[in-house]
Amino acid sequence: MAKTIKTKLKSSPSTPRTAIAIMAAGKGTRLKSNHPKVLHEVGGKPILAHVIATAIQVVPAKDVFVIVGHEAERVREAVRATGVNFVLQAEQRGTGHALMVAREAIFGNKDALAAYDQVIVLSGDAPLITAETIKKLSDFHTAEKATMTLLSADLDNPYGYGRVIRRGTGTRTPVRAIVEEKSATPRQRDICEINSGFYVFDVPALYEHIDSLSTKNAHGEYYLTDMAGVFHRAHKKVVAFKTLAAGEVLGSNTRAEMTMLDARLRMAKCRALLDDGVTIYYPHTSVIDSDVEVGADTVIEPFVQLLGSTKIGADCRISSYSVIENSILADRVTVKPGTIVEDSRVAAGAVLGPYSHLRPGSEIGEGAHVGNFVETKKIKLGKGSKANHLTYLGDAEIGEGVNVGAGTITCNYDGVNKHKTVIEDGVFIGSDSTLVAPVKIGRGAYVAAASCITDDVPEDALALGRSRQTVKEGWARAKRDAQKDQRG
Ligand code: UD1
Ligand code: CA
Repeated sequence: MAKTIKTKLKSSPSTPRTAIAIMAAGKGTRLKSNHPKVLHEVGGKPILAHVIATAIQVVPAKDVFVIVGHEAERVREAVRATGVNFVLQAEQRGTGHALMVAREAIFGNKDALAAYDQVIVLSGDAPLITAETIKKLSDFHTAEKATMTLLSADLDNPYGYGRVIRRGTGTRTPVRAIVEEKSATPRQRDICEINSGFYVFDVPALYEHIDSLSTKNAHGEYYLTDMAGVFHRAHKKVVAFKTLAAGEVLGSNTRAEMTMLDARLRMAKCRALLDDGVTIYYPHTSVIDSDVEVGADTVIEPFVQLLGSTKIGADCRISSYSVIENSILADRVTVKPGTIVEDSRVAAGAVLGPYSHLRPGSEIGEGAHVGNFVETKKIKLGKGSKANHLTYLGDAEIGEGVNVGAGTITCNYDGVNKHKTVIEDGVFIGSDSTLVAPVKIGRGAYVAAASCITDDVPEDALALGRSRQTVKEGWARAKRDAQKDQRG
């Protein structure tokens, strides 16, 4: 539940005490989805997470109130770590109703003074808004001494948005009303100045007048947009701050809009990385999540995905068709084509791929190689060790300078439990060996090719775990001769 936090706020009378309310309770009917709209992902994280991240650049998290309703618990869980407050709008009766429900959190209760002087209202489904634009909106509100200021923008295609009806022409003329698409007359529909769904309100005035909202409109909901008309009739000042950064106001009511927002966010991410000294060939083919970090002089080839909390060092090369998720790669790592890395760490100078699969918990040491069609899971591969071909290494601790031959398999699973393989420094594992865990190969030992190792191998020993070869001299020639005789 929302906390009233009057006591925590310290500010001088000149700086208004500011809360941010984020409306995120709606279902998102137009998406035809089982998941709440604000949890759909763009740029690699939930839409709402973008809005919250921007909000807490403007005010501290303790002054941010997220209004949740549809699937409230899931939404809360997804963004709880940000430290923001939540207000429950159990029944979603419109954007105006969302602010009615937040009355106590933002305005305080009957017996107390207002908790905040002004509230900035953000739409939880418009993730491109920047802190810079929110600050400009708030400054404009203060400079105009307005009761309500809305962020507007001119859109070439204003379809679906509320239109801003001013009392005259000119961008500083007061606003008379906001009309929603459904209620607009054909002439009003021609207006290109749209309401972005971002506002600043004077808190006491908002809660003095909010009960004047009614549900007498096309949707039968309490529209926050109708506050413009309510204030206009009460002779309070309503203004619109028109942003030139029109792209920032775009909302996500449909899947098509979400795909467009996703593309914009990813292109912006590529641009930021290019500015930071990363080379990206064909950036429109890369999928790089918002929180990914990449060091200077790293080269990203076409069709690469860098996801989640991935951090890539400097001077790396990430080749095409590689997917790297929640992983940390140090400097000078080479990732050859088609490599998949999940929840893993790779030290400096290591070489991965082509076509390696590092599953969660793989720790690859400095200068180590994981090569063609090698799968790893929950392993440590020491400095300079190599597993270059067709191998499965799971639940293993592998020391430094180890050579793992082609086709080596750690048999880590007995059908019920997982067991560990330990391979100490300087070991040589011949090709096509199976290491049946739990098993340990001592420092400097050799395992002969095609061995099945079931018992520990002492240091510096040679282990042969295969049957002896038999040779039958001349057998093949004799067989061929016999066949020739049969054919005559
Ligand atoms: C709203 C505005 C419209 C504006 C557009 C900008 C209204 C009536 N209309 O329309 O003028 O051009 O945003 O994107 O406000 N929500 C709640 N509780 C509710 C209903 C909605 O929290 O009861 C939340 C939604 O989850 C969403 C946000 O409020 O994040 C906006 O609601 P939405 O239904 O998307 O409004 P629009 O139709 O886009
Ligand atoms: Ca919307």
